[in-house]
Amino acid sequence: MGSHCFTYVITVLIALSVSSVPSSVSAKTSTPPCEFPAIFNLGDSNSDTGGLAAIYGYDPPPNGMSYFHKPARRYCDGRLVIDFIAESFGLPYLSAYLDSVGSNFTHGANFATAGSTIRPQNTTFQQTGYSPVSLDVQWNEFHDFYIRSQTTRQRGGVFEKLLPKEVVFSSALYTFDIGQNDLTAGYFLNMTTSQVKAYVPELLDQFKTIVKNVYDQGGRYFWIHNTGPVGCLPYILERLPVTAAQMDKAGCASPFNEVAQVFNRGIKEAVVQLRKDLPYAAITYVDVYSAKYSLISQPKKHGFEQPLRACCGHGGKYNYNVHMGCGSKMKVNGKEILVGKACDDPSVWINWDGYHFTEAANKLIFNQIVGGSFSDPPIPLRMACHRNQAHS
Ligand SMILES: *[C@@H]1O[C@H](CO)[C@@H](O)[C@H](O)[C@H]1NC(C)=O
Ligand SMILES: *[C@@H]1O[C@H](CO)[C@@H](O)[C@H](O)[C@H]1NC(C)=O
Ligand SMILES: *[C@@H]1O[C@H](CO)[C@@H](O)[C@H](O)[C@H]1NC(C)=O
Repeated sequence: MGSHCFTYVITVLIALSVSSVPSSVSAKTSTPPCEFPAIFNLGDSNSDTGGLAAIYGYDPPPNGMSYFHKPARRYCDGRLVIDFIAESFGLPYLSAYLDSVGSNFTHGANFATAGSTIRPQNTTFQQTGYSPVSLDVQWNEFHDFYIRSQTTRQRGGVFEKLLPKEVVFSSALYTFDIGQNDLTAGYFLNMTTSQVKAYVPELLDQFKTIVKNVYDQGGRYFWIHNTGPVGCLPYILERLPVTAAQMDKAGCASPFNEVAQVFNRGIKEAVVQLRKDLPYAAITYVDVYSAKYSLISQPKKHGFEQPLRACCGHGGKYNYNVHMGCGSKMKVNGKEILVGKACDDPSVWINWDGYHFTEAANKLIFNQIVGGSFSDPPIPLRMACHRNQAHS
């Protein structure tokens, strides 16, 4: 983190010393905040607000218990980081593109589904649990949405009220949060860390292609999350055990976190390249990895307990069981009982169900990243429409 800010300060100082000092200083202080009329999100379960639930219908209680007080088509007890992002701009929560009932897309659409990967997995959801809605499919959906929302709006009436105007697409914020599942997919196929690392360049190429496609379709403002410390998640700790020597001080599995960091360095480089290739884009890289890791490695400081155990689950060291997930039920003497139960107070837990963060953790992650100290360039979310001169 510190190193981003440091690099930025140096870059700014150099820029100041060689160019128009007064104008760039005043420009910086008087820059108005962005008014994004909409958000379009592409991603996985970290930002899924109903995509997977729309196609597989899996969204049992106690999901949603803390905030929505009923399942809300999210794999969480409440709101996700993308919900807090929408709230911060005064926008309603994003409807999932795949949700054909009751959706309102005037302020954006969410293409994310739980289990999504950048690369198509060539396996079914039933076989491996990875979503068929990979990033290329999300792009296809977005493209289709763009075209059809415009022709459909012309029908007037309710269509006009539920679909965005064309101008919205070029002034919207495009958020991305994807990659984690691509990394775990290799490990679940018994690949070694070096085998997983070997396909990272392919992930990055495909990621860049999709960002470029969105840009060519008119998108200008991009907010790109890197991937989190997947080696700290109960489902990985339980299902892909490592040796004691491969555990870090926080109790996370180092090999998986290292590969996540390799991917993240690649995403950061991809962003640098994209800024060169897409002259009118403002692209912010957000180090969500560090925000998440700081919660997990210093839980007490942030008001949390049990950083590596799932709040909602069943048994074992991590309160996670792949066969008895959060909300799962079992028949005992002909009676259904809930075995994937939630902890008493999710607000002091970091992990919700073995895979996902609790609302309390999501809120803190959002609070950490919203101000820009985890971003490159280090500008706040509300300034993410401004192309940073120091980085051009
Ligand atoms: C859709 O959402 C917008 C806010 O973006 C709101 O102004 C509008 O009333 C909503 N439309 C309907 C039909 O609910
Ligand atoms: C799926 O198959 C395609 C075509 O053979 C291949 O290019 C791609 O890498 C495969 N995806 C994975 C995750 O192996
Ligand atoms: C990976 O290895 C485990 C343990 O040897 C085995 O049970 C499993 O079937 C293997 N998975 C794949 C996809 O080959």
